[in-house]
Amino acid sequence: MLSSEALHSYVEYYFNLSGKYMDTLMRHASPLYILDTSILRERAEQFKRAFHDVLPDTAFYYAMKSNNHPDVVRTLVCSDFGIDVSSGMELEQAVASGAKDIVFSGPGKTREELLLAVRYSDRVTVLIDSFGELARLEDIAAAEDKIIRAGVRLAASKGSLWRKFGITPEELPLFREDTIKCSHINFCGLQFHCSWNRTPDAQVEFISTLGHILSGLPDLCREELEFIDIGGGYWPPQGEWLQPAGTREGKMKIGLGAEAGPATDHYCLPSAGIETFAEQLHIALCQYIYPILSCKICFEPGRWICNDAMQVIMTVVDKKADDLIITNAGTNTVGWDRFETDYFPVLNLTRPSLQERECHIMGSLCTPHDVWGYTYWGDEIQEGDILMIPEQGAYTYSLRQHFIKPLPHVVTL
Ligand SMILES: Cc1ncc(COP(=O)(O)O)c(C=O)c1O
Repeated sequence: MLSSEALHSYVEYYFNLSGKYMDTLMRHASPLYILDTSILRERAEQFKRAFHDVLPDTAFYYAMKSNNHPDVVRTLVCSDFGIDVSSGMELEQAVASGAKDIVFSGPGKTREELLLAVRYSDRVTVLIDSFGELARLEDIAAAEDKIIRAGVRLAASKGSLWRKFGITPEELPLFREDTIKCSHINFCGLQFHCSWNRTPDAQVEFISTLGHILSGLPDLCREELEFIDIGGGYWPPQGEWLQPAGTREGKMKIGLGAEAGPATDHYCLPSAGIETFAEQLHIALCQYIYPILSCKICFEPGRWICNDAMQVIMTVVDKKADDLIITNAGTNTVGWDRFETDYFPVLNLTRPSLQERECHIMGSLCTPHDVWGYTYWGDEIQEGDILMIPEQGAYTYSLRQHFIKPLPHVVTL
């Protein structure tokens, strides 16, 4: 269960900041995304510091897929982050944002995207996804008479749909043999990414697998490797907050035709702090990697950096019953049916209170899945009230959908 102390201090923290958010409504009409770049800068510094403090050689790349708003990307570039892109479109935006160090990873890069990477070979490292992509990149770089820096992505888990990413670790010796024949590719690194980590366990486990594979490679091959990019996937420290329907037990109940649980029950899957990630990854690197290879360690955090930096603000348009209101923003704002399973407190900024009350908080789209929450925090709720849902910075803005209603504007603080 999510402790009531943690929940109250969260709600109180955001109510205390409400002046700052309400002020924006004097100049801009709701609904809005409010982007607070000071939070981005703080998170960027904290993330870098955690790893700088324990590792000798590091580099940081913001995963722009997690929030691709231009002000987010520019802020991270100004905070000395490189950018991790996954498409030609993202690559062009990263270049336009002034990024001087870009990693380009992802499956199925097209020839046009590889050509773009080669044209920006002064700043791009391609993280190659397959043997076929290696051959295509070599062809394109040869035709352009350029040499491009590259690494290869290793699939961090077998047997699941995650196998679509990269080559298997066992294929690395063969892949490296192929790179020797590619005179336009400077093969110098490895990448892996384990998704959604509330603890460092999965990353530590893969680092041990990698150490094993690397120790089987010839010395010469290891010497070529300048970096290991250990990806993103760091869960924010507040953990994952769930509605009853988001828990395993709730899903089983729904499957059996029952209610998942009371609306005021909330759950928390706890998450380790970033300093704990840094400490545990440092131990694993010292045990499995550094004894056989001294190299730079690269990071590609997305969610951890941008999650807390964007809040969504909306207005109550219609009160249909004491326990049913409709807002002027739909969940096309975040692009997916997030709030049916994830719990984010809905704060009534007009009538703040540390009291949580049951009420269906629904958007105005023509679908019953357009749900913001089943409760709100406030004295009561009326037409015209301003509601805020904090911490909507990650995998929301970049997943927003043009569907039925206009999308909110972004106000950057
Ligand atoms: C290769 C790679 N790096 C980094 C990330 C960013 O992950 P997160 O936002 O969870 O840190 C992703 C997310 O899918 C990814 O696929």
